[in-house]
Amino acid sequence: MHHFAYRRGVSQANVLHAEQVDLCALAAEVGTPFYCYSTATFERHLDVFADAFAARPGTLVCYSIKANSNLGVLATLARRGAGMDVVSEGEIRRALAVGVPGERIAFSGVGKTKDEMAFALDAGIFAFNVESEPELRALSQVASAMGKTARIAFRVNPDVDAGTHHKISTGKAENKFGIAFELAPSLYRQATQLPGIVPSGIHMHIGSQITDLTPFRNAFALLKELVETLRSSGLRIEFVNLGGGLGIPYRSDEPAPPLPADYARLVNEAMGDLNVRLLFEPGRMIAGNAGILVSRVLYVKTAPEKTFTIVDAAMNDLIRPTLYEAYHQILPVIEPGPDTESRFTDVVGPVCETGDYLALARPLPALNAGDLIAVMTAGAYGAVQASQYNSRLLVPEVLVSGEQYCVTRPRPSYESMLAAERVPDWFQG
Ligand code: LLP
Repeated sequence: MHHFAYRRGVSQANVLHAEQVDLCALAAEVGTPFYCYSTATFERHLDVFADAFAARPGTLVCYSIKANSNLGVLATLARRGAGMDVVSEGEIRRALAVGVPGERIAFSGVGKTKDEMAFALDAGIFAFNVESEPELRALSQVASAMGKTARIAFRVNPDVDAGTHHKISTGKAENKFGIAFELAPSLYRQATQLPGIVPSGIHMHIGSQITDLTPFRNAFALLKELVETLRSSGLRIEFVNLGGGLGIPYRSDEPAPPLPADYARLVNEAMGDLNVRLLFEPGRMIAGNAGILVSRVLYVKTAPEKTFTIVDAAMNDLIRPTLYEAYHQILPVIEPGPDTESRFTDVVGPVCETGDYLALARPLPALNAGDLIAVMTAGAYGAVQASQYNSRLLVPEVLVSGEQYCVTRPRPSYESMLAAERVPDWFQG
């Protein structure tokens, strides 16, 4: 469910709107390409997820900042009570900048530096999700040197196949994430002996864009058993962080993935009477359908084999299609008439790479130079994965709320792009 829909626009045609904002008018103001986010969609997704667990008081939903770290987006979610899942000092700083209290921040990642650990301890974060023994020792050193205590959860790797793209699966033994289940009891025992460390929870995240509940069911059952084993050896496990990973619909021609309510039912079944506080780290489920990438057609090139629709957004702006073979629906911003025929076309960008495409062999109504398109479901892992490859300016981000909009990250200037670098002194004079 999202708030992008065709409505009668300024020009009388039916125009795609973000809430009440006409995207043709917005493109004229902001220029293309740009990301556009809907406040109402972000709020709805957070509420739907949190409401699904309303029966479990104390549940903390930590939005996974990596999915979309725009400050306007984070402020929207923070004001609605979200905690934040972070993976770097930069993300902690973003969470703090929008007023998220430290006790609502959980810190994941296999490669936290000691400086990052110290920063997180100063911020008084809720917990560190620890992913290895050397990391545990480093955290103990940092915390005890600062006279502080780090609450930790070990991230355990259940070795289950999440059935998702291999580049976003994290819960298999061969993935770099977490510690093996069988090592957990001895690591928890070690942790209780280390200064500055209080083991108090357990964490798991098995992958992203998971569209079948079975891998969750299998992994959660193993996790529950592990909590019981740890408790029977005298450990206090106060919270269980079940990670993120719930998939979202990218295509209208495929069965919809499970809803948060289905997922919540499964979690309740799997956790049974385990008396723990639950944490979650949803990213895509909150952000994915809340954003689109708007781009303008530059040229339509007809080659003997096929037609290329060359647009001004490229793989550096949205890398998901080429990196994960991801499908993003593409809509013309001006609604085509009901009898408009579709033709197959590759929608490609200006970057000098064969892999620079947003869609391949996609049936679309005939598009002409100057037409606007919207790449849908680009709110998660879109702008955050953008780069300046080919010295293209980072794409701006616009947050809409009702009739209002704010350019929450303006398009940089070429001057600022060049000013960020130096020519060595030895070329002066
Ligand atoms: N927690 C941890 C520890 C994670 O590593 C992730 C995502 C999440 C939570 C949030 O997962 P979500 O609810 O969004 O599935 N760039 C890829 C996705 C990478 C996901 C990385 N970790 C993509 O565009 O599909």
